Amino acid sequence: MAKTIIFLGPPGAGKGTQAQRLVDEKGFVQISTGDILREAVKKGTELGKKAKEYMEAGKLVPDDLIIALMEEKLRELSDRDVILDGFPRTVPQAEALDKMLPQIGRNLDKVILFELSDEEIIKRLSGRRIDPETGKVYHIEFNPPPKDVKVIQREDDREEVIKKRLEVYHSQTSPLVDYYKKQGKLFVVDASKSPDEVYNSIISVI
Ligand code: AP5
Repeated sequence: MAKTIIFLGPPGAGKGTQAQRLVDEKGFVQISTGDILREAVKKGTELGKKAKEYMEAGKLVPDDLIIALMEEKLRELSDRDVILDGFPRTVPQAEALDKMLPQIGRNLDKVILFELSDEEIIKRLSGRRIDPETGKVYHIEFNPPPKDVKVIQREDDREEVIKKRLEVYHSQTSPLVDYYKKQGKLFVVDASKSPDEVYNSIISVI
């Protein structure tokens, strides 16, 4: 059966960075709800129009939209090993996933929790920059972009929005830690380490 791994953790903990490496080196497919939503906003699709306001305010997009989106993606990728990056983010999303997976011939293998302090998160997000051409993620201090690459800052990486996203994480997403601990599926990685060290911890778990 194809693998299903969840990356859980606060904004800016390095989920996208590590998912990208597993795609490049281990053949996983990354399903990032954030990336899918940003693309939809850019293209001005129906989904994008509905999601834009929530995202810019640092709030979560309504569960029904996200659950339908994820089911469609998982059905398309039925035979591939996947990393769910940024989903589920609420208890109703996790319950919907538990129902959905057996219906599409999948099992949840493991949930990797990225642990990082709020202070470090603010540093990482305020310094994050993106290459809009390739989607590659940089950091002005920890992983500076090459001189010839013109990078941009994400709309929701402004300080006041970062604070809101953290608040939302603590109130709506962190209950999933207990949810998956009870299922015996939760594995914790120390996300404050270097990207290589974090990667090695993930590999040793999956
Ligand atoms: P989303 O795009 O999922 O954002 P997020 O979870 O807040 O995560 P980020 O992408 O900000 O961070 P990351 O953990 O991937 O960190 P990264 O690797 O970039 O969601 C955006 C919005 O979409 C949400 O606010 C919501 O509105 C909506 N949404 C998405 N999913 C939803 C859902 N399921 N339900 C409802 N709404 C949903 O790293 C961050 C920075 O740190 C980078 O600059 C990187 O270079 C640097 N870095 C990474 N690792 C290290 C390291 N080890 N050491 C030093 N620097 C590092």
